[in-house]
Amino acid sequence: MTFVVTDNCIKCKYTDCVEVCPVDCFYEGPNFLVIHPDECIDCALCEPECPAQAIFSEDEIPAGMENFIELNAELAEIWPNITEKKDELPEAKEFDGTPGKIQYLER
Ligand code: SF4
Ligand code: F3S
Repeated sequence: MTFVVTDNCIKCKYTDCVEVCPVDCFYEGPNFLVIHPDECIDCALCEPECPAQAIFSEDEIPAGMENFIELNAELAEIWPNITEKKDELPEAKEFDGTPGKIQYLER
């Protein structure tokens, strides 16, 4: 079992999540964060910390977002680790809640 970062993180990237993760299993791309599924210990601490409510347990992923399970696993292998909070993206407030942000994902 793992937790998964989903669509609403894209173009927001608040990074509050990384501060509470006891095993530092977040990885950072240009406008999205992912969780490494083999490192996540399923502690659930990050889920309530995300202002964009973008983090879900693997077994509670909203319908239509199942593809993010594979996407997290794939990108966690190539993106660098992030362990400290930084400022959210400048467009975070504007895009928080916009559906279908996968089209904006930068790799
Ligand atoms: Fe880290 Fe726990 Fe969130 Fe997994 S559930 S990413 S271990 S804070
Ligand atoms: Fe993204 Fe939420 Fe973390 S917006 S960076 S999953 S706090």
